[in-house]
Amino acid sequence: MKFSFAEVAVPDSGTIVVGVGEERHLTPAAAALDRDAGGALTRAMAASRFDGKKDQLLTILAPANLGAGRVILAGLGQIAEITPVQLQNLGGNIIGALNGSGESDVAVLLGEIADLPVAPGDAAAQIAFGARLRTYRFDKYRTQLKPDQQPSLKKFTVLTEAVPAARKAFGPLDKLADGVFFTRDLVSEPGNIIYPESLAEQAQALAELGVEVEVLDDKKMKKLGMGALLGVGQGSTRPPRLIVMRWNGAKKENAAPVAIVGKGITFDTGGISLKPGPGMEEMKWDMAGSGVVIGLMKTLAGRKAKLNAVGVVAAAENMPDGNAIRPGDILTSMSGQTIEVNNTDAEGRLVLADALWYTQDRFKPAVMIDLATLTGAIGVALGAEQAGLFANDDALAEQLIAAGKATGEALWRMPLGDGYNKQIDSDVADMKNISGSRDAGATIGAVFLQRFVNGAKWAHLDIASMAWSKKDAATVPKGATGYGVRLLDYLIAAHYEA
Ligand code: BES
Ligand code: MN
Ligand code: ZN
Repeated sequence: MKFSFAEVAVPDSGTIVVGVGEERHLTPAAAALDRDAGGALTRAMAASRFDGKKDQLLTILAPANLGAGRVILAGLGQIAEITPVQLQNLGGNIIGALNGSGESDVAVLLGEIADLPVAPGDAAAQIAFGARLRTYRFDKYRTQLKPDQQPSLKKFTVLTEAVPAARKAFGPLDKLADGVFFTRDLVSEPGNIIYPESLAEQAQALAELGVEVEVLDDKKMKKLGMGALLGVGQGSTRPPRLIVMRWNGAKKENAAPVAIVGKGITFDTGGISLKPGPGMEEMKWDMAGSGVVIGLMKTLAGRKAKLNAVGVVAAAENMPDGNAIRPGDILTSMSGQTIEVNNTDAEGRLVLADALWYTQDRFKPAVMIDLATLTGAIGVALGAEQAGLFANDDALAEQLIAAGKATGEALWRMPLGDGYNKQIDSDVADMKNISGSRDAGATIGAVFLQRFVNGAKWAHLDIASMAWSKKDAATVPKGATGYGVRLLDYLIAAHYEA
């Protein structure tokens, strides 16, 4: 689909979208269109429950006196309170309403809106960005889609008084959407296609954007003493990999980087502590954290972000096998700390233990943020509404929460603490990988990770309930969400770029 911006003029074909504020308050562009159409818009509103609340859409087919096949009235709510996320949602909702309708051409007639708290060019760009995010599909394995199952839209145009500003603002947002789509693709792929080596190949493709990519194979990891990561991978015929991506965009060449670390379990059977069969197919997306890291690196390079960033992915497949680790096995991590593995299904924390240690040790990052589909318990606590945030630094936690609010990728801070940390002391090793009770499961995972950050400023995002969605939302079609890419791109732009 082609996204573009053009001067304000009433189109004589396709679908026209106009805005309506709360209590059926037509924007100037909508009022002019209503006059052209002999009052068809106001009559349609009066005949329906549409009253301009945000996220409402009302479709008027074949409106009188207009060349357009449809007019859609789009609720804007209180115009003085409109946010960028709301504008994204507006764009997304338009795609949701039209992409299966047979319509091929839609123009959003924004025009001038008094009191709009977002600059006109930015507003137009946010609408187009949200629209593009909603067009995502993962159809590559669906060979028998009929024409009426295919998307119909070809052109999405925002008509604005600020065309140059809109184009300029859309540039980096388009790169952000590229990153989100890459993440969604990686997360959607099944375990027979994406496994540690093929995930590394996908990351290597970022080299063409100027990202430096290094892939550590099992031999190198063995030399570095990464017994925890290697332990998880040893039951699979597909060997583990540690993927390191570097984007060097800072003016000061040696500026401390922002480091983002991802759990990359390309399939999680649970290992010898085998998961139940029903629903196990979902564990193809147990690499979502690493999908976010790779998608984010694509965005940062795409928009030439002015910082040094490091992305690290701990990739392994967790399989049951004659060579797999057993419950009770003791692994020695790169940090030197030993781990009693009492449940082979608590594997994400094991691969991250070595990835976090390696990252802080080698890169001395300004901040280190990991993303992981770490625990089912975070979904019990927060549902599919917010990710769990754990941090050893209040300023970083505040920045992340604010970024969550600004992007609509919400976070809720959860506790760390000595009382929890004690629960993973082991009688036979330095620690064990589960507490032995079901209490505070997400925090138990987090305090385990904290033992490997070595005092670095660190945040852990448990995204287990956010990585995959079962229902369509305005800018996130069901399936892989790409949750985290927008959040961290915003965090970086707001606080870590020169
Ligand atoms: N990958 C799972 C967590 C998960 C569950 C992600 C559901 C997405 C949806 C993780 O490796 C896991 O198995 N965690 C265990 C930990 C337990 C053994 C302490 C869990 O949450 O049950
Ligand atoms: Mn597991
Ligand atoms: Zn897992």
